[in-house]
Amino acid sequence: MPKVTYVSDAGEARVVDGLVGDSVMQTAVRNGVPGITGECGGVLSCATCHVFVDEADLDRLEPVSGLEDEMLDGTVVDRCPNSRLSCQIKLSDELGDLRVTTPEAQE
Ligand code: FES
Repeated sequence: MPKVTYVSDAGEARVVDGLVGDSVMQTAVRNGVPGITGECGGVLSCATCHVFVDEADLDRLEPVSGLEDEMLDGTVVDRCPNSRLSCQIKLSDELGDLRVTTPEAQE
C-alpha cells in the first residue's frame, strides 16, 4: 500500500496510507489533510491542489502535461521546479511512497 507523507508549510509531517489508483489530492482530501483544497475534484481547472514534490521522488513521476503546466502558472503560491498538481499524481505500487510539501495557501 503506497503511503504519502504530507509536510505542511510549517514543517509538520503527516503520513497517510493511500489507495492504488487514487491521486495524491484525493488521498489528502479524504483524510482531512490541510493545505490541499482540490476544488475542481481533479479535472485540472482550479490549481488548488498545488504541492512541492520531494526532490528524491520527482524523477519517478509521469512528466507534467501541457495543461498541468499551464495551470501551474496560476497557483496562489508561485510554482517551483518541483511543483506539481497533486490531482495529477496517481498512486501505484510501482510508484511507491511519496513525500510532498503543501504551500502556505491555495486560494
Ligand atoms: S484538483 Fe483542481 S486542478 Fe487539481
